[in-house]
Amino acid sequence: MMIPKQTVQEVLEASKVEEVVGEFVSLSKRGVNRIGLCPFHNEKTPSFTVSPAKNIFKCFGCGESGSSVDFLMKHEHFNFPQAVKWLADKYNIHIEEEEQTPEQIAAENEREGLFAISKFAAEFFNKTLNETDKGRAIGLSYFNERGYSQDIITKFNLGYSPEDWDALAVAAQAAGYPIDALVQSGLVIKKDQGGVYDRFRNRVIFPIHNASGRVLGFGGRILIADKKKPKYVNSPESLIYDKSNVLFGLYSAKNQIIKKDNCYLVEGYTDVISLYQSGIENSVSSSGTSLTEGQIRLIKRYTPNITILYDGDAAGIKASFRGIDMIVRAGMNVRVILFPDGEDPDSYAKSHSASDLSIFLESSAKNFINFKSELLSKEAGNDPLKKAQVVRQIVETIALVPEQLNRIFFIRETSELLNVKEEVLTNEVAKILRKEHYKKQEKHNREQQQKAAGIGHTPSPELGDEPPEDFFNDNLSGGETKTPVKSEISSKSNELEIIRLLLNFGEIEFKPEIAKVEDLPEEKDEEENTEEEEISVIEFIIGDLLEDDISFDDEILNSIYKEYANAYENDRLLNSNYFVTHENDEIRKLAGDLLSENHILSPLWFKSHQISITPETDHAVVARACYECIYSLKVRKISELKKKLMKKMATEGLSSEAQDDIMVEYHRYDIMQNKLNQGLGRIIGGKN
Ligand code: GTP
Ligand code: MN
Repeated sequence: MMIPKQTVQEVLEASKVEEVVGEFVSLSKRGVNRIGLCPFHNEKTPSFTVSPAKNIFKCFGCGESGSSVDFLMKHEHFNFPQAVKWLADKYNIHIEEEEQTPEQIAAENEREGLFAISKFAAEFFNKTLNETDKGRAIGLSYFNERGYSQDIITKFNLGYSPEDWDALAVAAQAAGYPIDALVQSGLVIKKDQGGVYDRFRNRVIFPIHNASGRVLGFGGRILIADKKKPKYVNSPESLIYDKSNVLFGLYSAKNQIIKKDNCYLVEGYTDVISLYQSGIENSVSSSGTSLTEGQIRLIKRYTPNITILYDGDAAGIKASFRGIDMIVRAGMNVRVILFPDGEDPDSYAKSHSASDLSIFLESSAKNFINFKSELLSKEAGNDPLKKAQVVRQIVETIALVPEQLNRIFFIRETSELLNVKEEVLTNEVAKILRKEHYKKQEKHNREQQQKAAGIGHTPSPELGDEPPEDFFNDNLSGGETKTPVKSEISSKSNELEIIRLLLNFGEIEFKPEIAKVEDLPEEKDEEENTEEEEISVIEFIIGDLLEDDISFDDEILNSIYKEYANAYENDRLLNSNYFVTHENDEIRKLAGDLLSENHILSPLWFKSHQISITPETDHAVVARACYECIYSLKVRKISELKKKLMKKMATEGLSSEAQDDIMVEYHRYDIMQNKLNQGLGRIIGGKN
């Protein structure tokens, strides 16, 4: 389904933001603008503003901003084509979709066929549960015994599969579904000796929906414990059911996940359902698989906050450690609640009142630092070696946090909690990052060598033959280099981090020297003697980058940077509001995103952690982040310049003078890079 570009343009031009937003938010007139209660965060006084003149909306409470399309994507969780279609519909614009290939149509039909079968089966199981004698006597009474109300059974569309061998197969074929498609869906299984039988027999059924409510597959629970049979049988994967990208309960939970800005992650179907019945409507489960990255990404569409609710037994603790690391690596906030041994959310919800349950959830959630330290400290007792191990285990998780500024805050918290100096922790984190870097690099080199061996020639840097990152830096010198090369930071995220700092903290002022970690006492004295002036984050970053004539690779980020730079050169400092209301869609959207609460370091984050960014000490944190960003950007830029030089070197027919010039320039870059790396090492703690 492709919408031609021209139609998209037509639709966007026709859309009036006040009319689009007005369909979802009640707006009142205020001067030239409209104003209302923000649908993206909870507020009592309106700070959500719509500007018909600029054709954008912006919330001054949470920073959300954008065009009509942005609004629909955010509010309705549409993707871009869906938003355009919605608008086209509203403004009566006909969308002529570009034609699909026969293969695309066939695949689309096959998928639609499976969706139709799944929907039919869910209805069949639900009808069997509610409307047949056996269904009521066996299935419904099982659910009633578990305390499920009729409402909740309807809400989750629960069902029952009859004991007969082929009840579903017969009913589905009678309704016109071809047997091959039924087999493909996994609901029906072909026997070797011919004939078919149903996968689910005499089980209660939990349908599994995607985020928009279509049935993808099923889980079926046995009614009476039987050691010889699995407690749960699940649909196999199919064209429509990819287990690692599905969460049970997401469809019924997503609105509450957005509203509560948190998602509870539980282990089983029954946990989700029981919590829901007790008023906790924002939980999902990875039923049938252990937690995957795809599932975490699904949650991230609705909230950056996940609370893991697992059993307190050994398996539950192990699973929660794994979950923490995966969630942290995804750049999200994780909290953990372990249930008392032998209890799960389902049983706890059954044996406690709804208000006790909600108090328990509110009061026992711990962040990963508190969670790990409490759990591990208990084991460690007073054994100093074991205590060091506790620190190490926390630091390992901190090293997974993708954003350096956030790492600094976690380090601070750990330092306070475990009474270990921040510098020591910073060092440990840097060590892990460096080790990771070398591992990645070795792997890369190995692959490169294997590739070369495979095609039978040794790699030489040729035009158009991209050398591996930092190839020259480390391979030509041989052995381990002492300098930390931060390949974990891609060029884009590096640039993004700088823009994020500018937007969020641009006006904060600090003395440039506080950003450095003092390592030599003499230097420290000198520093104390120099009375330095305070400068703002914008002045510091832009001034430094301009000096080296740096530009960004990413087009949008570069245009933001250029605007800051132009204004700076004209003695003006732009504030974030300038970008949030920018005429360029992409800039406006990005600025809104970077300032919005989806990022941990939003003002909200500071509030919730009782960290104010006014005291001097916190300025130091921001300042250090500035240094790190700038240094690593420059280190990367120089690597690129060196690569270009090497390519030039490989051009045929170079005079020896030209070669010499290149060598000299190359050497100059080497020296610069070493200096930068030393600086970077000092800041992120790589002093060895
Ligand atoms: P109840 O015993 O009905 O409360 O189920 P539960 O959700 O508490 O199950 P449990 O905690 O034992 O397991 C959690 C999840 O693991 C379940 O919801 C299933 O998705 C999955 N699971 C449990 N047992 C089996 C099994 O025998 N086979 C398969 N494939 N999955 C299982
Ligand atoms: Mn259970």
